[in-house]
Amino acid sequence: MDFELKPLTPARLCAEKCDALIVLVAGDAVTGSDPVSVMAAMAIKAGDFESKAGKLLSAYRAPGITATRVLLAGAGDGSQKSVRTAVQAAMAALKTTNVRRVLLSLLALPTPGPQIVRAAVVACADAGYTYSTTKSKPAEQKLQRVVVGVSALAASKPGFDKAVGLCKGLALTREWANRPANHATPTLLAQAAKELGKLPRLRVEVLGPKEVAKLGMGSFMAVAQGSEQPLRFIVLRYDGGAKAEAPVVLIGKGITFDTGGISIKPAAEMDEMKYDMGGAASVLGTFRALAELQPALNVVGLIPACENMPDGRAIKPGDVVTSMSGQTIEILNTDAEGRLVLCDALTYAERFKPRAVVDIATLTGACVIALGGVRSGLFSSNDALAQSLAAAGDSSLDLCWRMPLDDEYADGLKTHFADVANVAGRAGGAITAAKFLQRFAGKFAWAHLDIAGTAWKSGAAKGATGRPVPLLVDFLLAQVQPVKAVRKASTASRSAKAKPRSRA
Ligand code: BES
Ligand code: MN
Ligand code: ZN
Repeated sequence: MDFELKPLTPARLCAEKCDALIVLVAGDAVTGSDPVSVMAAMAIKAGDFESKAGKLLSAYRAPGITATRVLLAGAGDGSQKSVRTAVQAAMAALKTTNVRRVLLSLLALPTPGPQIVRAAVVACADAGYTYSTTKSKPAEQKLQRVVVGVSALAASKPGFDKAVGLCKGLALTREWANRPANHATPTLLAQAAKELGKLPRLRVEVLGPKEVAKLGMGSFMAVAQGSEQPLRFIVLRYDGGAKAEAPVVLIGKGITFDTGGISIKPAAEMDEMKYDMGGAASVLGTFRALAELQPALNVVGLIPACENMPDGRAIKPGDVVTSMSGQTIEILNTDAEGRLVLCDALTYAERFKPRAVVDIATLTGACVIALGGVRSGLFSSNDALAQSLAAAGDSSLDLCWRMPLDDEYADGLKTHFADVANVAGRAGGAITAAKFLQRFAGKFAWAHLDIAGTAWKSGAAKGATGRPVPLLVDFLLAQVQPVKAVRKASTASRSAKAKPRSRA
């Protein structure tokens, strides 16, 4: 889908050619003498339309308006959230039509700042996405182009560009997360990362079983040993900052399929465990967005990718393995494999002397029970880091909620047979998982995002959400030092190779 930002007056809006004109209406006091404003004011007065977020009124070939269809969309108080609801409702209403070109008007919003513009663009792109990779015929994509109409171009441009960059990342994340496990093996995931390595300021290195063995990643290797698919350890680097500047490290859980291993999962809904590389997909998508946005900072992405399978060679409950950190782990449940691949990635992260490390993982069913699909679980022993991540979640409408890490939660991980066990009891399962990871994250500021409830939707709307890419992108952009931001403005245009930046 292509996006364009266009400065318009109410009169010009009515004269624009398009298949559908979506007009966001915030508040019930509509003024203006142009045909769209008059229509809105009359409809509100007659009680046929209200500006409550999500309310719609549609018209066909309305007099004085060039657009074939007009959709008045209530945008409530004009907040980010209301704008998202409004665009979602309008796009859903257009889904069954033949609309190719949409004009989305933000002219009537009280403060169409960067976050509002972004909410509108992201909601459009979201509605326009359809998965088709493993269909015999590609899904017919009718909607081609969205023009966002604003009154002042300069004020909206930064938010718009940011949104379009973010959308590219979101689409990549959704695409890879949605792919079935036989179309998204560790090898294929690594190839996708390699492709990203061609983008400006990005480098990608892929380690295989030999290199990983040499590093001593005994815990990661233990998970992979039950699968015919060879593991991959993917290292992405985005170098936007000064060479000496400490990077932020993102670690994504890349279990391309989680059967549970010998501690095998029940059959019902096991297919959804293709999404167990949602953390990895979010790291790939975040790097895709970084390549677009070119912020002045250094970021490292680490993805331990493998399958968790039952097999004659698979790990068994009770097996003890030695992690890269030297700590031994008793694997009491082979289905608690995410922490086993992440712990070695955390140890590997030490070599970057990172400013902060954030791991992202579809880690526990317990987190789904605790927070559902609304907020991701946020765990951190570092208050400043936790606050930055929570703030990024709020500003991007990609919410998370901080969970506790009291030491008592680690009691259940004690065992007679190794330094630590990989599971505790059922109680507080999301927290005990985080406590396990924390043992490997002592050398840097660390946070963990459990996205088990938020990375995908089940049921009729089954599909990847792209979360927490919006959160991660906002978090990273907030890490750019103000002084460096000036440098960014001068280098971004050079290194982005004059690629068209307004297409998504
Ligand atoms: N990938 C799963 C977590 C998961 C389960 C995410 C369901 C989303 C929906 C993870 O590897 C896992 O199996 N965790 C176990 C841990 C348990 C054995 C301590 C779980 O949550 O049941
Ligand atoms: Mn598992
Ligand atoms: Zn898993």
